[in-house]
Amino acid sequence: ITPLVPRTRKEIYETLIKGLQRLEYRGYDSAGVAIDGNNNEDKERFIKLVKKRGKVKALEEELYKQDDLDSKTDFETHFGIAHTRWATHGVPSAINSHPQRSDKRNEFVVIHNGIITNYKDLRKFLESKGYEFESETDTETIPKLIKYMYDNRESEDTSFSALVERVIQQLEGAFALVFKSIHYPGEAVATRRGSPLLIGVRSKYKLSTEQVPVLYRTCKEEQGWQCSCGIFNCFAVTNSDVSCLSCFCFFLCSAIIEHTNRVIFLEDDDIAAVTDGKLSIHRLKRSASDDPSRAIQTLQMELQQIMKGNFSAFMQKEIFEQPESVVNTMRGRVNFESSTVLLGGLKDHLKEIRRCRRLIIIGCGTSYHAAVATRQVLEELTELPVMVELASDFLDRNTPVFRDDVCFFISQSGETADTLMALRYCKERRALTVGITNTVGSSISRETDCGVHINAGPEIGVASTKAYTSQFVSLVMFGLMMSEDRISLQKRRQEIISGLKSLPEMIKEVLSLDEKIHDLALELYKQRSLLVMGRGYNYATCLEGALKIKEITYMHSEGILAGELKHGPLALIDKQMPVIMVIMKDPCFTKCQNALQQVTARQGRPIILCSKEDTESSKFAYKTIELPHTVDCLQGVLSVIPLQLLSFHLAVLRGYDVDFPRNLAKSVTVE
Ligand code: G6P
Repeated sequence: ITPLVPRTRKEIYETLIKGLQRLEYRGYDSAGVAIDGNNNEDKERFIKLVKKRGKVKALEEELYKQDDLDSKTDFETHFGIAHTRWATHGVPSAINSHPQRSDKRNEFVVIHNGIITNYKDLRKFLESKGYEFESETDTETIPKLIKYMYDNRESEDTSFSALVERVIQQLEGAFALVFKSIHYPGEAVATRRGSPLLIGVRSKYKLSTEQVPVLYRTCKEEQGWQCSCGIFNCFAVTNSDVSCLSCFCFFLCSAIIEHTNRVIFLEDDDIAAVTDGKLSIHRLKRSASDDPSRAIQTLQMELQQIMKGNFSAFMQKEIFEQPESVVNTMRGRVNFESSTVLLGGLKDHLKEIRRCRRLIIIGCGTSYHAAVATRQVLEELTELPVMVELASDFLDRNTPVFRDDVCFFISQSGETADTLMALRYCKERRALTVGITNTVGSSISRETDCGVHINAGPEIGVASTKAYTSQFVSLVMFGLMMSEDRISLQKRRQEIISGLKSLPEMIKEVLSLDEKIHDLALELYKQRSLLVMGRGYNYATCLEGALKIKEITYMHSEGILAGELKHGPLALIDKQMPVIMVIMKDPCFTKCQNALQQVTARQGRPIILCSKEDTESSKFAYKTIELPHTVDCLQGVLSVIPLQLLSFHLAVLRGYDVDFPRNLAKSVTVE
């Protein structure tokens, strides 16, 4: 965008690089930047493209190496786009990372989030027209396709957004795209379908409107909405989760002016163009249900919420935040005096939910485990059949879903592609859809009929911790709300509500075991495998503990249902194999004791997570971690924490980057 005051190249790079750094926590394998080059001696425009495999730091170093960044050169235009990539098609490499380009002159460059499913056909077509591909990505078809459209345009006046419009008509799959071109200096065009895309709005002056009108092709005049002045006053960020965008906004906000946490959510097939400081949003066709404008919304996040504080890793900070995050989940919802629970996002649908045929709870990874953890208490409190489903498997099976089903979608980010696809699948079948997410404004929270925000605060460590305990508590609260008028369940409800009240103090008590768990990690960190075994309410603890261990320590770890021990896993037990057993004073206690006997009879040396007052289990333990005792259905909130801490210490001792485990991403927006 044409600057109002001279800017140095260094400042521009810093803006982009710091933006990328704010996104690092999501997991990525390479990064790249495209930016207007200064006019060269021939006065020919060019776009500078720098891409690098690995950390954003490496990209930054490369930029500094290549450019005289301290020069005070003014730029006629300085529009930059930047991207971090998590490989889906093609290995992580500089050539496969974004921006992808149309040709060696970088006439068109594109960044993309999502997947183009018909890329093979497009590539074949473009190759037949003489375009040479350099990467293995699906994305590369897009800059090539827009160049093809440009080379074959009917009129010299064809606008950038009109070209983009033609391109997206040919694309299948999911995408959020930002385009830049040497033919349209000072201009960027962004569009989306399926993947989220937001525009951050920054302005020095009060805007005359909070609504951006949508323009349609039928409009003769493509005049944009005046976004007021300012430097970089509009920027498009293609991203998979809203919290990332707001981080980026906040960076800009704290660095320069007000209004940077204000965003516009684009709808599918919107085409947004920023030209010389003006934003315009276009759509090809107007449909009856279309909203004629896009509102500017304010994201409520604070910078300190996303900082690491005194902790060595975000994951560690988030584990230690759990006494507060569970309180935030319950705040204003659980009334401990009247023993009532009110989830505002569900209250209007409660009757319908009570009448339903069954509840289906769908999620991936840790979010799925939160469903497993609460299934039993939900069955008890709602008196309904409850199915828990991994989103990918649920879709693979074409699971029958009916209008009188209620489907819950659990997702920290609210953007996980598998979960989102499952949501759309259930919507098509007219089931009532309920979102349980940690991200306000996320795709899942917007596309579901109703829902609950778990309010755990931003979770940055790739390995989910506080979101799990808050999802857990949210689902229990839902069960309590459903059972309010069940006389036979009042005693049980009372017991659970008292359990919720003391949960924060008990979590603090568990966290005080950190040093002991660190010592245990010192004993275990050189092992190759670690089994975690339990049953009943704590089976999910084992699954989640094992997931944490494999995610960040790269040790082999398995969560084993103790009831299945004799049907296979027992073969793994000997005096070398480390086994963690979760044995709590609950209805499965005696059965867990049997499993313990079977393990010790094979010279196994169990490390036991047990209740403080349990003298029986400790007799057979190689080591014990003693936890405060709470009501059976909430015990899993406490028992998972030692395993979160253990995985953290193991990863540190093994020398791994806790917040950015290899091969994993914070939100997986591809199927
Ligand atoms: C990724 C993350 C996991 C997370 C899962 C589901 O695989 O690495 O930690 O549990 O996605 O994420 P969601 O945002 O839907 O809870």
